[in-house]
Amino acid sequence: MSSTQEPPISVCFVCLGNICRSPSAEAVFASRVQARGLAHRFTIDSAGTSSAHVGERPDPRATRAASGRGYAMQSRAREVRADDFDSFDFILAMDVNNLTDLKRLQTLAKHPRAQISLLRDFDPASPPGAEVPDPYYGGKHGFERVLDLCEAACDGFLEHVLASS
Ligand code: 4NP
Repeated sequence: MSSTQEPPISVCFVCLGNICRSPSAEAVFASRVQARGLAHRFTIDSAGTSSAHVGERPDPRATRAASGRGYAMQSRAREVRADDFDSFDFILAMDVNNLTDLKRLQTLAKHPRAQISLLRDFDPASPPGAEVPDPYYGGKHGFERVLDLCEAACDGFLEHVLASS
């Protein structure tokens, strides 16, 4: 089968609120695949383990930091669902709490197939178990740090996916 006929590789980035870290990772990864001419090969989404911000646009501090680097944040927050484990190839958590919550929710999925990992496990420069820290209660430096970490990890993740597809 030629590559144009293969189903897209589906990726969902997950944090707590889906208004800071995971939409940032989504925007970074979408920009990376777009820059490589690979947008048609991916379905990219994000979600939160909490319902607290469902329907909201990303935090303005995240949007501002992302736009400073040329990333567009277009998503609205949604809560991760059990059927996401059936439909996505990869579900990438920002921190260990997100990962723990995802593993619990995965037990409710009917036909789970997603590979669940910490996003930073794909950054070759990060130690195992490294997290993207929650920037919500901090200053704008935290949002720049989120982007730094997402850029490094998304690059590593894209290399991983392309090498194994
Ligand atoms: P996120 O950040 O999980 O990266 O979207 C947060 C957003 C909201 C809250 C905490 C973290 N909150 O407590 O409302």
